[in-house]
Amino acid sequence: MEYLPVSSESISRAAEILRSGGLAAFPTETVYGLGADAYNAAAIVKIFEAKKRPFFDPLIIHISAIDALEDVANLSLLGKETRLKLFMLAENLWPGPLSIVLPKNENIPGIVTSGLPTAAVRFPDHEAAVKLIALSAPEGKHGAVAAPSANPFGALSPTRAEHVRDGLGENVDIILDGGSTRVGVESTVLDISNSGVKILRHGGAPKEAIESLIGFVQDASVINSKKAEGFSSPGQLKSHYAPRTPLFVFTSEEIVRLPYEKDAAYLFFDDFSRDAWQKRQGVQAPETAVKVLSPSGNVYEAAACLFETLHEIDKNGKSRIFAQFAPQDGIGAAINDRLTRASNL
Ligand code: TXA
Ligand code: MG
Repeated sequence: MEYLPVSSESISRAAEILRSGGLAAFPTETVYGLGADAYNAAAIVKIFEAKKRPFFDPLIIHISAIDALEDVANLSLLGKETRLKLFMLAENLWPGPLSIVLPKNENIPGIVTSGLPTAAVRFPDHEAAVKLIALSAPEGKHGAVAAPSANPFGALSPTRAEHVRDGLGENVDIILDGGSTRVGVESTVLDISNSGVKILRHGGAPKEAIESLIGFVQDASVINSKKAEGFSSPGQLKSHYAPRTPLFVFTSEEIVRLPYEKDAAYLFFDDFSRDAWQKRQGVQAPETAVKVLSPSGNVYEAAACLFETLHEIDKNGKSRIFAQFAPQDGIGAAINDRLTRASNL
Protein backbone atom coordinates (compact mmCIF):
# COMPACT_ATOMS: atom_id res chain seq x y z
CA MET A 1 0.00 0.00 0.00
CA GLU A 2 1.23 3.50 -0.86
CA TYR A 3 0.59 6.25 1.71
CA LEU A 4 1.29 9.71 0.33
CA PRO A 5 0.45 13.32 1.17
CA VAL A 6 -1.81 15.04 -1.37
CA SER A 7 0.23 16.55 -4.26
CA SER A 8 -0.12 16.68 -8.04
CA GLU A 9 2.19 13.65 -8.26
CA SER A 10 0.33 11.55 -5.70
CA ILE A 11 -3.03 12.43 -7.27
CA SER A 12 -1.71 11.34 -10.69
CA ARG A 13 -0.44 8.12 -9.16
CA ALA A 14 -3.83 7.44 -7.51
CA ALA A 15 -5.62 8.16 -10.82
CA GLU A 16 -3.35 5.66 -12.57
CA ILE A 17 -4.27 3.07 -9.93
CA LEU A 18 -7.98 3.78 -10.48
CA ARG A 19 -7.62 3.49 -14.25
CA SER A 20 -5.96 0.11 -13.87
CA GLY A 21 -8.76 -1.22 -11.63
CA GLY A 22 -7.24 -0.60 -8.18
CA LEU A 23 -8.55 1.05 -5.01
CA ALA A 24 -7.60 4.56 -3.91
CA ALA A 25 -8.63 6.17 -0.61
CA PHE A 26 -8.90 9.95 -0.84
CA PRO A 27 -10.07 12.90 1.24
CA THR A 28 -13.36 14.68 0.56
CA GLU A 29 -14.91 17.54 2.56
CA THR A 30 -17.07 15.05 4.50
CA VAL A 31 -15.06 11.88 5.25
CA TYR A 32 -12.42 9.85 3.39
CA GLY A 33 -13.73 7.75 0.50
CA LEU A 34 -12.58 4.37 -0.79
CA GLY A 35 -12.72 4.81 -4.54
CA ALA A 36 -12.79 2.63 -7.64
CA ASP A 37 -13.60 3.45 -11.27
CA ALA A 38 -17.41 3.41 -11.39
CA TYR A 39 -17.39 1.86 -14.89
CA ASN A 40 -15.24 -1.11 -13.85
CA ALA A 41 -17.33 -3.86 -12.20
CA ALA A 42 -14.31 -5.94 -11.17
CA ALA A 43 -12.79 -2.95 -9.37
CA ILE A 44 -16.11 -2.30 -7.59
CA VAL A 45 -16.15 -5.86 -6.22
CA LYS A 46 -12.86 -5.05 -4.47
CA ILE A 47 -14.52 -2.18 -2.57
CA PHE A 48 -17.15 -4.51 -1.10
CA GLU A 49 -14.48 -7.06 -0.19
CA ALA A 50 -12.11 -4.51 1.38
CA LYS A 51 -14.89 -3.10 3.59
CA LYS A 52 -16.68 -6.42 4.19
CA ARG A 53 -19.72 -4.53 3.02
CA PRO A 54 -22.83 -6.51 2.07
CA PHE A 55 -23.51 -6.37 -1.67
CA PHE A 56 -27.03 -5.05 -1.03
CA ASP A 57 -25.71 -1.66 0.13
CA PRO A 58 -25.21 0.62 -2.93
CA LEU A 59 -22.32 3.06 -3.43
CA ILE A 60 -22.25 6.78 -4.12
CA ILE A 61 -20.88 7.85 -7.51
CA HIS A 62 -18.59 10.88 -7.32
CA ILE A 63 -18.32 13.24 -10.29
CA SER A 64 -16.08 16.26 -10.88
CA ALA A 65 -18.45 18.55 -12.84
CA ILE A 66 -22.22 19.05 -13.14
CA ASP A 67 -21.81 18.24 -16.87
CA ALA A 68 -20.82 14.70 -15.92
CA LEU A 69 -24.30 14.02 -14.47
CA GLU A 70 -25.73 12.68 -17.73
CA ASP A 71 -22.92 10.09 -17.98
CA VAL A 72 -24.01 8.40 -14.78
CA ALA A 73 -27.72 9.28 -14.51
CA ASN A 74 -30.59 9.00 -16.97
CA LEU A 75 -32.17 12.41 -16.62
CA SER A 76 -34.70 11.77 -19.39
CA LEU A 77 -36.64 9.65 -16.89
CA LEU A 78 -37.23 12.66 -14.65
CA GLY A 79 -40.36 14.76 -14.97
CA LYS A 80 -39.94 18.45 -15.79
CA GLU A 81 -40.50 19.62 -12.23
CA THR A 82 -38.05 17.10 -10.80
CA ARG A 83 -35.42 18.19 -13.33
CA LEU A 84 -35.86 21.78 -12.21
CA LYS A 85 -35.41 20.74 -8.60
CA LEU A 86 -32.31 18.76 -9.51
CA PHE A 87 -30.68 21.75 -11.19
CA MET A 88 -31.66 24.12 -8.36
CA LEU A 89 -29.90 21.76 -5.96
CA ALA A 90 -26.90 21.06 -8.19
CA GLU A 91 -26.27 24.70 -9.01
CA ASN A 92 -26.58 25.87 -5.41
CA LEU A 93 -25.29 23.01 -3.29
CA TRP A 94 -22.69 21.39 -5.56
CA PRO A 95 -19.85 20.95 -5.13
CA GLY A 96 -20.86 19.97 -1.61
CA PRO A 97 -22.03 17.35 0.90
CA LEU A 98 -25.22 16.33 -0.92
CA SER A 99 -25.79 12.98 -2.68
CA ILE A 100 -28.80 12.92 -5.00
CA VAL A 101 -30.53 9.64 -5.86
CA LEU A 102 -31.38 9.60 -9.59
CA PRO A 103 -32.36 7.05 -12.24
CA LYS A 104 -29.12 5.31 -13.17
CA ASN A 105 -27.50 5.43 -16.59
CA GLU A 106 -27.10 1.96 -18.16
CA ASN A 107 -23.34 2.60 -18.54
CA ILE A 108 -22.96 2.12 -14.80
CA PRO A 109 -22.62 -1.56 -13.85
CA GLY A 110 -25.40 -2.90 -11.62
CA ILE A 111 -23.01 -3.84 -8.82
CA VAL A 112 -22.41 -0.14 -8.07
CA THR A 113 -26.06 0.35 -7.19
CA SER A 114 -26.67 -3.15 -5.77
CA GLY A 115 -29.03 -3.83 -8.63
CA LEU A 116 -31.19 -0.77 -7.93
CA PRO A 117 -32.45 1.24 -10.93
CA THR A 118 -31.21 4.37 -9.16
CA ALA A 119 -27.76 5.75 -8.32
CA ALA A 120 -26.71 8.24 -5.64
CA VAL A 121 -24.52 10.92 -7.22
CA ARG A 122 -22.37 13.57 -5.61
CA PHE A 123 -19.91 16.28 -6.67
CA PRO A 124 -17.58 16.69 -3.69
CA ASP A 125 -16.22 20.04 -2.54
CA HIS A 126 -12.56 19.07 -2.26
CA GLU A 127 -9.83 20.03 -4.70
CA ALA A 128 -7.83 16.80 -4.46
CA ALA A 129 -10.95 14.64 -4.82
CA VAL A 130 -12.14 16.59 -7.86
CA LYS A 131 -8.72 16.37 -9.56
CA LEU A 132 -8.52 12.66 -8.86
CA ILE A 133 -11.98 12.00 -10.32
CA ALA A 134 -11.20 14.05 -13.44
CA LEU A 135 -7.86 12.31 -13.98
CA SER A 136 -9.36 8.84 -13.51
CA ALA A 137 -11.55 9.29 -16.60
CA PRO A 138 -11.62 6.50 -19.15
CA GLU A 139 -11.14 7.59 -22.81
CA GLY A 140 -13.87 9.91 -24.01
CA LYS A 141 -15.73 10.10 -20.69
CA HIS A 142 -15.86 12.30 -17.62
CA GLY A 143 -14.43 10.52 -14.59
CA ALA A 144 -16.82 8.76 -12.20
CA VAL A 145 -15.53 7.29 -8.97
CA ALA A 146 -17.73 5.03 -6.86
CA ALA A 147 -16.74 5.51 -3.25
CA PRO A 148 -18.25 4.58 0.08
CA SER A 149 -16.64 5.88 3.25
CA ALA A 150 -13.20 4.28 3.66
CA ASN A 151 -13.92 2.28 6.83
CA PRO A 152 -14.81 -1.34 7.60
CA PHE A 153 -18.59 -1.79 7.21
CA GLY A 154 -20.54 -0.54 10.23
CA ALA A 155 -17.53 1.13 11.88
CA LEU A 156 -16.87 4.83 12.45
CA SER A 157 -16.20 6.81 9.28
CA PRO A 158 -12.62 8.05 8.73
CA THR A 159 -11.95 11.77 9.01
CA ARG A 160 -8.15 11.38 8.82
CA ALA A 161 -5.88 9.29 6.56
CA GLU A 162 -4.60 7.44 9.67
CA HIS A 163 -8.13 6.19 10.35
CA VAL A 164 -8.20 4.66 6.85
CA ARG A 165 -4.82 3.01 7.33
CA ASP A 166 -5.81 1.61 10.75
CA GLY A 167 -9.18 0.34 9.49
CA LEU A 168 -8.43 -1.00 6.00
CA GLY A 169 -4.62 -1.27 5.82
CA GLU A 170 -3.34 -3.43 2.97
CA ASN A 171 -6.78 -3.81 1.39
CA VAL A 172 -6.22 -0.39 -0.23
CA ASP A 173 -3.65 0.24 -3.00
CA ILE A 174 -3.05 3.90 -2.17
CA ILE A 175 -4.11 6.35 0.54
CA LEU A 176 -3.89 10.08 -0.15
CA ASP A 177 -3.38 12.02 3.07
CA GLY A 178 -5.12 15.39 2.99
CA GLY A 179 -5.36 15.93 6.76
CA SER A 180 -8.62 16.20 8.73
CA THR A 181 -11.81 16.56 6.71
CA ARG A 182 -13.67 19.86 6.99
CA VAL A 183 -17.33 18.82 7.45
CA GLY A 184 -16.70 15.63 9.42
CA VAL A 185 -19.99 13.80 8.77
CA GLU A 186 -21.08 12.12 5.53
CA SER A 187 -23.18 13.71 2.82
CA THR A 188 -26.94 14.09 3.05
CA VAL A 189 -28.61 11.44 0.86
CA LEU A 190 -31.65 12.88 -0.90
CA ASP A 191 -34.07 10.91 -3.05
CA ILE A 192 -35.69 12.93 -5.82
CA SER A 193 -36.24 10.05 -8.21
CA ASN A 194 -39.79 9.23 -7.10
CA SER A 195 -42.74 11.45 -6.46
CA GLY A 196 -41.82 13.72 -3.55
CA VAL A 197 -38.40 14.57 -2.20
CA LYS A 198 -37.08 12.55 0.74
CA ILE A 199 -34.03 12.71 2.97
CA LEU A 200 -32.74 9.14 3.32
CA ARG A 201 -29.74 10.09 5.46
CA HIS A 202 -29.04 13.33 7.33
CA GLY A 203 -25.62 14.75 6.59
CA GLY A 204 -23.51 17.74 5.69
CA ALA A 205 -26.21 19.56 3.68
CA PRO A 206 -28.87 20.64 6.20
CA LYS A 207 -32.55 19.97 5.47
CA GLU A 208 -33.23 23.71 5.94
CA ALA A 209 -30.80 24.59 3.09
CA ILE A 210 -32.47 22.08 0.76
CA GLU A 211 -35.98 23.28 1.65
CA SER A 212 -35.07 26.91 1.05
CA LEU A 213 -34.29 25.94 -2.56
CA ILE A 214 -37.01 23.44 -3.48
CA GLY A 215 -39.67 23.54 -0.77
CA PHE A 216 -40.93 20.78 1.50
CA VAL A 217 -38.71 17.76 2.00
CA GLN A 218 -39.93 14.61 3.74
CA ASP A 219 -37.72 13.12 6.45
CA ALA A 220 -37.40 9.42 5.65
CA SER A 221 -34.14 8.88 7.55
CA VAL A 222 -34.47 5.78 9.69
CA ILE A 223 -34.06 7.58 12.98
CA ASN A 224 -37.09 9.73 12.34
CA SER A 225 -39.25 7.23 10.51
CA LYS A 226 -41.62 5.46 12.88
CA LYS A 227 -41.20 2.14 11.10
CA ALA A 228 -37.88 0.38 11.50
CA GLU A 229 -38.65 -2.04 8.67
CA GLY A 230 -39.38 -1.20 5.10
CA PHE A 231 -36.50 1.24 4.73
CA SER A 232 -35.99 2.61 1.25
CA SER A 233 -32.21 3.01 1.41
CA PRO A 234 -30.33 -0.17 2.24
CA GLY A 235 -27.81 1.97 4.09
CA GLN A 236 -30.46 3.13 6.54
CA LEU A 237 -29.26 0.48 8.94
CA LYS A 238 -30.06 1.33 12.52
CA SER A 239 -26.80 0.17 13.97
CA HIS A 240 -24.02 1.88 12.06
CA TYR A 241 -21.26 4.43 12.37
CA ALA A 242 -20.40 2.80 15.69
CA PRO A 243 -17.31 3.12 17.85
CA ARG A 244 -16.04 -0.13 19.39
CA THR A 245 -16.89 1.19 22.86
CA PRO A 246 -20.62 0.87 23.65
CA LEU A 247 -22.29 4.28 23.41
CA PHE A 248 -25.40 5.61 25.17
CA VAL A 249 -26.98 8.90 24.22
CA PHE A 250 -28.81 11.38 26.49
CA THR A 251 -30.66 14.68 26.35
CA SER A 252 -29.05 17.75 27.94
CA GLU A 253 -31.27 17.41 31.02
CA GLU A 254 -30.40 13.74 31.43
CA ILE A 255 -26.65 13.92 30.97
CA VAL A 256 -26.03 16.51 33.70
CA ARG A 257 -27.63 14.12 36.19
CA LEU A 258 -25.38 11.16 35.35
CA PRO A 259 -23.06 10.23 38.21
CA TYR A 260 -19.32 10.14 37.49
CA GLU A 261 -18.08 6.63 36.71
CA LYS A 262 -14.33 6.11 36.42
CA ASP A 263 -14.41 3.75 33.45
CA ALA A 264 -16.85 5.84 31.37
CA ALA A 265 -16.08 8.57 28.83
CA TYR A 266 -18.42 11.60 28.75
CA LEU A 267 -18.99 13.34 25.42
CA PHE A 268 -20.61 16.76 25.86
CA PHE A 269 -21.93 18.98 23.12
CA ASP A 270 -20.66 22.23 24.67
CA ASP A 271 -18.68 23.65 27.61
CA PHE A 272 -21.87 24.89 29.24
CA SER A 273 -23.22 21.34 29.65
CA ARG A 274 -19.88 19.92 30.77
CA ASP A 275 -19.52 22.64 33.41
CA ALA A 276 -23.09 22.09 34.60
CA TRP A 277 -22.37 18.36 34.97
CA GLN A 278 -19.05 18.89 36.78
CA LYS A 279 -20.66 21.34 39.19
CA ARG A 280 -23.66 19.15 39.87
CA GLN A 281 -21.63 15.97 40.41
CA GLY A 282 -18.86 17.83 42.26
CA VAL A 283 -16.10 16.29 40.13
CA GLN A 284 -13.23 17.57 38.05
CA ALA A 285 -12.93 14.57 35.72
CA PRO A 286 -9.65 13.94 33.83
CA GLU A 287 -9.30 15.14 30.22
CA THR A 288 -9.24 11.63 28.80
CA ALA A 289 -12.67 10.98 30.32
CA VAL A 290 -14.45 14.19 29.36
CA LYS A 291 -14.67 15.54 25.82
CA VAL A 292 -16.54 18.52 24.39
CA LEU A 293 -17.50 18.66 20.70
CA SER A 294 -17.76 22.45 20.49
CA PRO A 295 -16.85 24.70 23.46
CA SER A 296 -19.15 27.49 22.23
CA GLY A 297 -21.92 25.14 21.07
CA ASN A 298 -21.52 25.49 17.30
CA VAL A 299 -23.08 22.55 15.43
CA TYR A 300 -20.67 22.77 12.47
CA GLU A 301 -17.62 22.68 14.73
CA ALA A 302 -19.19 19.76 16.63
CA ALA A 303 -19.86 17.77 13.41
CA ALA A 304 -16.30 18.36 12.20
CA CYS A 305 -14.78 16.67 15.24
CA LEU A 306 -17.49 14.07 16.08
CA PHE A 307 -15.90 10.99 14.45
CA GLU A 308 -12.38 12.10 15.33
CA THR A 309 -13.33 12.37 19.01
CA LEU A 310 -15.05 8.96 18.95
CA HIS A 311 -11.95 7.42 17.31
CA GLU A 312 -9.87 8.98 20.12
CA ILE A 313 -12.15 7.72 22.89
CA ASP A 314 -11.97 4.23 21.36
CA LYS A 315 -8.23 4.28 21.96
CA ASN A 316 -8.54 5.31 25.62
CA GLY A 317 -9.87 1.95 26.80
CA LYS A 318 -13.05 3.15 28.52
CA SER A 319 -15.85 0.63 28.88
CA ARG A 320 -18.70 2.93 27.76
CA ILE A 321 -19.42 6.34 26.30
CA PHE A 322 -22.16 8.63 27.60
CA ALA A 323 -22.92 11.18 24.87
CA GLN A 324 -25.14 14.26 24.74
CA PHE A 325 -27.49 15.01 21.83
CA ALA A 326 -26.75 18.15 19.80
CA PRO A 327 -29.50 20.68 19.06
CA GLN A 328 -31.52 19.25 16.14
CA ASP A 329 -30.99 22.29 13.85
CA GLY A 330 -28.96 22.26 10.65
CA ILE A 331 -26.15 19.74 10.65
CA GLY A 332 -27.09 18.91 14.27
CA ALA A 333 -29.64 16.48 12.77
CA ALA A 334 -26.73 14.53 11.22
CA ILE A 335 -24.82 14.47 14.54
CA ASN A 336 -27.90 13.14 16.35
CA ASP A 337 -28.52 10.56 13.63
CA ARG A 338 -24.96 9.21 13.99
CA LEU A 339 -25.12 9.18 17.81
CA THR A 340 -28.47 7.37 17.77
CA ARG A 341 -27.24 4.74 15.34
CA ALA A 342 -23.99 4.30 17.27
CA SER A 343 -26.11 3.59 20.37
CA ASN A 344 -28.17 0.88 18.60
CA LEU A 345 -25.78 -1.99 19.06
O1 TXA B 1 -19.99 11.88 2.37
C1 TXA B 1 -20.23 10.80 1.86
O2 TXA B 1 -21.35 10.51 1.38
C2 TXA B 1 -19.08 9.77 1.80
C3 TXA B 1 -17.96 10.34 0.94
C4 TXA B 1 -16.86 9.35 0.70
O3 TXA B 1 -18.49 10.84 -0.25
N1 TXA B 1 -19.56 8.52 1.30
C5 TXA B 1 -20.39 7.71 2.02
O4 TXA B 1 -20.71 6.53 1.37
O5 TXA B 1 -20.78 7.98 3.13
P1 TXA B 1 -21.38 5.29 2.12
O6 TXA B 1 -21.33 4.20 1.13
O7 TXA B 1 -20.71 5.06 3.39
O8 TXA B 1 -22.88 5.70 2.31
C6 TXA B 1 -23.72 5.80 1.17
C7 TXA B 1 -25.16 5.84 1.57
C8 TXA B 1 -25.61 4.51 2.10
O9 TXA B 1 -26.48 4.76 3.18
C9 TXA B 1 -26.36 3.92 0.90
O10 TXA B 1 -27.33 2.98 1.26
C10 TXA B 1 -26.96 5.16 0.29
O11 TXA B 1 -25.95 6.12 0.42
N2 TXA B 1 -27.26 4.96 -1.14
C11 TXA B 1 -26.36 4.79 -2.13
N3 TXA B 1 -27.02 4.58 -3.30
C12 TXA B 1 -28.33 4.63 -3.05
C13 TXA B 1 -29.51 4.48 -3.85
N4 TXA B 1 -29.46 4.24 -5.15
N5 TXA B 1 -30.72 4.59 -3.25
C14 TXA B 1 -30.78 4.85 -1.91
N6 TXA B 1 -29.70 4.99 -1.09
C15 TXA B 1 -28.49 4.87 -1.65
MG1 MG C 1 -20.25 4.55 5.22
